[in-house]
Amino acid sequence: MTDHLTAIDWPVRTGRLVLRRAREADLDAIWAYRRDPSVTHWLSAAPSTIEAHRVSFVERGHLAHMVLVELDGVVVGDAMIRVEDAWAQAEVAVGARGTQAELGWTIDPAYAGRGYATEAARALVDVSFGALGLRRVYALCFADNEPSWRLMERLGMRREQYLVKESLHRSGDWLDAVGYALLAEEWPR
Ligand SMILES: CC(C)(COP(=O)(O)OP(=O)(O)OC[C@H]1O[C@@H](n2cnc3c(N)ncnc32)[C@H](O)[C@@H]1OP(=O)(O)O)[C@@H](O)C(=O)NCCC(=O)NCCS
Repeated sequence: MTDHLTAIDWPVRTGRLVLRRAREADLDAIWAYRRDPSVTHWLSAAPSTIEAHRVSFVERGHLAHMVLVELDGVVVGDAMIRVEDAWAQAEVAVGARGTQAELGWTIDPAYAGRGYATEAARALVDVSFGALGLRRVYALCFADNEPSWRLMERLGMRREQYLVKESLHRSGDWLDAVGYALLAEEWPR
């Protein structure tokens, strides 16, 4: 599997934050806030033990796409850049390989509401269109996850999808989802 994130000159510094790649040794720091049900409520997985968390992040390969967000040396959240192929017709599929990325973000609730997630996400978009040379980034969330789609709108991402009762939440309810995207030519350098 290609490790796309090696193309980035880590760590990435923003006005207040340092972004770096996640390692197995960071699992405890990540678990400290990801064990909080208010954090995992909208996330794809909610491991209930640190061992399940380890399996989810190490064995399922999540660390490969994960970026840690640090403030003054303290891990305050994480983010994701998952590079993937765009959809293409068979004859031109080679040209669509590794041209877009799914982005994601999680902030420790103790550090929410101060713009840190937005600042980190802005840096992800910068490296996606810069060092990674991608042509499109996108993000998905449950429609009721307003903090997440508000962040996408702060970044200037465009709502391109509203999916009705498309996603099954662990509560057992089929929920609406939204999809946002941004093209490289739309991102001010
Ligand atoms: C999604 C999530 C990361 C958003 O966190 P957040 O704290 O709202 O986002 P930020 O850290 O960017 O902070 C933005 C808030 O701080 C405010 N703010 C303060 N200073 C700011 C600054 N310098 N820059 C930008 N916003 C600032 C903004 O106005 C905004 O508040 P508002 O929503 O009341 O208007 C967070 O809710 C989370 O981790 N949720 C759980 C995991 C999750 O759902 N992830 C997404 C899955 S799709």
